[in-house]
Amino acid sequence: MTLMELLPSLTHSLPPRTDPKLWPDVSDRQLAWIAATFGTPTYVLDENTVRDQCRRFRQALPHARIAYASKALTCRAVLRWVQEEGLSLDVCSAGELAVARSIGFPAERILLHGNAKAPEDLKAAQSYGVGRVVVDSLHELDLLTDQKVLLRVTPGIAADTHPALATGDNGQKFGLGEADLEEAVARIGARPDLTLEGLHCHIGSQIRHVATYEQAARRMVALIARIRTPIRELDLGGGFGVPYTSDEPDFDLTGYVDRITRAIGYECARHRIPVPELTIEPGRAIVARAGITLYRVISVKHPFVAVDGGMSDNARPALYQARYQPRLLRGGPTAPMTLVGRHCEAGDVLATDIPLPRDVHPGDVVAVPVTGAYHHSLASNYNQVGRPALIGVRNGLTKVLVRAETEEDLLRRDVG
Ligand code: LLP
Repeated sequence: MTLMELLPSLTHSLPPRTDPKLWPDVSDRQLAWIAATFGTPTYVLDENTVRDQCRRFRQALPHARIAYASKALTCRAVLRWVQEEGLSLDVCSAGELAVARSIGFPAERILLHGNAKAPEDLKAAQSYGVGRVVVDSLHELDLLTDQKVLLRVTPGIAADTHPALATGDNGQKFGLGEADLEEAVARIGARPDLTLEGLHCHIGSQIRHVATYEQAARRMVALIARIRTPIRELDLGGGFGVPYTSDEPDFDLTGYVDRITRAIGYECARHRIPVPELTIEPGRAIVARAGITLYRVISVKHPFVAVDGGMSDNARPALYQARYQPRLLRGGPTAPMTLVGRHCEAGDVLATDIPLPRDVHPGDVVAVPVTGAYHHSLASNYNQVGRPALIGVRNGLTKVLVRAETEEDLLRRDVG
């Protein structure tokens, strides 16, 4: 065989090169070691990538308040990293707040969100003394005392995302309409113990186009001008899209900063109002690319390759038709395959038509990138399967951040 004939088969049998847009800097050797040591399925989270993303946002907007939306991934370690990087924190339940509280996250830097905050959520937030409560209904005002608040409004913007992730248009459950906004401003004005710090909007998640944010920013400044009450802060929420597959572009953060700061400056000058301080709430963009999920192949029935996890650790394909680009931790000539989960539902499909080695077999380890956001936090016990461990990695070192859930854990709650 000549070298030219040999080369294609050699390159074919090498593990496929990973796209740095999707993969953190964690070696295959370390991933294989984690799978062997901690079992599968397992979530892996690269600390450096999380910290780098925090810094990227802080550098892009040095004067803004950057609040990590902890719903993307809440655990003590991540909240500690985020705190150390100087970010603020958005929590949306007493449970998320309890994790923040357990690591002593500074109360002043916490915002409480929620379209239907239970009295317990508000009580927990007020007893810890959170910096801001983002009010989403008139009734909520009656439940608060001595509090700085933002008012969440519905900006009437249709975001370029999956319908389940669009939260800024009229006709959905989030935010106050214009009439309620005016009423809320009047009620706060009559309450010396409440301070209206600002207005808030969150137009949705996995937003790809900067223009959508620009539209929202203009609309929000117009609303601030209309309510004729001094407003210090404008919170434009989160939603920054991330690529899940190589064909998707990265979010243009520089373009975002450029266009929204210009739009806000221009609109404020036009309405003759001072430029408010800016807050944003990235969740996914901070943690998504830091995460990798490891599975082991259980069975192969071409074209189906079934693994030992699925919709209980990754609900996103079923919920939002999300696409992923998994790979095997070894090479080989490939063929299109469909990666399916272990759960008793035909919709438990992780990725369709992806190239995997033709000789894929039980025991092989599959790695799925961009699984740091809304995977651990959306995980369930469907089919009484325990939720996976979350293993932190940093510079080649490994640490259990959240241990795997055991059958004993599941039985402990079942007291009937
Ligand atoms: N702020 C508020 C008020 C939010 O509701 C959210 C997300 C964020 C910030 C953060 O958005 P991000 O930067 O992460 O896009 N489970 C879905 C995503 C739901 C997002 C809910 N709210 C998914 O897996 O795609």
